[in-house]
Amino acid sequence: MKIVTIIGARPQFIKAAAVSRAIDEHNRLTPDTAPFTNDASPMASNPLPITEVLVHTGQHYDEDMSAIFFRELEIPEPAYNLGIGSGTHGQQTGEMLAAIEKVLIVEKPDWVIVYGDTNSTLAGALAAAKLHIPIAHVEAGLRSFNRLMPEEINRIVADHLSHLLLCPSQIAVNNLTNEGISKGVTIVGDVMADALQFAVNKVQHNIDIKEKFHLQHGTYLLTTIHRAENTDNKERLQSIINALNSLEETIVLPIHPRTRKILNGMNCRMKPHIRIIDPVGYFGMIALENSARMILTDSGGIQKEAYWLKVPCITLRNETEWVETVENGWNKLTGANPTAIIDAVHNFKPPTEQAALYGNGQAASRVLQEITNYIERK
Ligand code: UD1
Ligand code: UDP
Repeated sequence: MKIVTIIGARPQFIKAAAVSRAIDEHNRLTPDTAPFTNDASPMASNPLPITEVLVHTGQHYDEDMSAIFFRELEIPEPAYNLGIGSGTHGQQTGEMLAAIEKVLIVEKPDWVIVYGDTNSTLAGALAAAKLHIPIAHVEAGLRSFNRLMPEEINRIVADHLSHLLLCPSQIAVNNLTNEGISKGVTIVGDVMADALQFAVNKVQHNIDIKEKFHLQHGTYLLTTIHRAENTDNKERLQSIINALNSLEETIVLPIHPRTRKILNGMNCRMKPHIRIIDPVGYFGMIALENSARMILTDSGGIQKEAYWLKVPCITLRNETEWVETVENGWNKLTGANPTAIIDAVHNFKPPTEQAALYGNGQAASRVLQEITNYIERK
């Protein structure tokens, strides 16, 4: 069986690495003698080895937004790097669509896997759908119910085009049911939990935050900001910066290039307790999250990592797709409101107990099981 995996943005390298490891494991357990044929039906359950063809759209391209993840997570060099780079949504997605289509015509895969909700996800799903190639969407069913977010458009379209909708939670399944999608919908858990389990071991052995970042455990806040709704709205961004400036604790801010460019343009003054650093690799980031007293973020992935690592999280957005983290009392939505942010930094206290959320770290092998066992239900 041949799978084309479409990736392009930082969190997708992390998610896809978990599934690539599961593919390696599947192939290790699949006898070499199993017949391999390219035209094996993708619809039949079979124990064939899986050939994965990695396609990097080039949406993220800086060393610390892309290559570092390939090195750390031992992801093989992509078979195709489309080098699309940055652009407006239409231009970027359109160029990806044309380039991915060419690859799919050559590779003729049995499946295309897309991850999450970026423009690379949208382009991959559209290109595959037009060529009648079955699509597996990992992290299906998430909704913010805010169609001003580019991600919301991407995930709705990707879900409606997909044959397998691999969901992290029951709420994601319910969201799909409400949109009339039930065929091919399954809860597999979250591949980011698999990724975190893989990282935690490496981090414990290799990363000392005192040595690497000159920080002490539990003595700082960790912040990330990159969502369009915060960066492209100067008032919101300035409100968040005002809140951070008025705090006294050390704040570590690994800065997304998008945010750096916009802050430079705004000539925004940051007080010295805010330590802006370049984006860090995955293992460094997990180490920083694990030792933070609290995390302030607008990232999707980091809200979940905060939960799993039992670090209180303040989400700098008005809504979240990861509502279970809020319902369980470990995540607080403050939007960009400075009073709410400052109050949460001082007073937000999650409960001592925590429910297990988003699977048990075996989501990647469940993804493969679903793909290899897929039988089209008429
Ligand atoms: C994208 C995703 C977002 C995801 C995020 C993960 C979309 C619509 N958004 O947002 O869902 O949460 O990735 O990080 O797909 N840039 C660089 N170097 C890079 C990459 C980006 O300088 O390597 C700068 C460029 O100025 C670019 C801007 O960042 O225009 C935004 O990059 P883009 O990939 O379009 O969106 P993200 O904000 O990264
Ligand atoms: N991340 C990282 N280095 C950083 C910032 C984030 O490795 O400097 C990791 C983070 O731990 C998480 C993922 O990138 O696993 C989240 O990506 P991001 O916040 O860019 O996107 P989102 O999850 O919001 O789509």
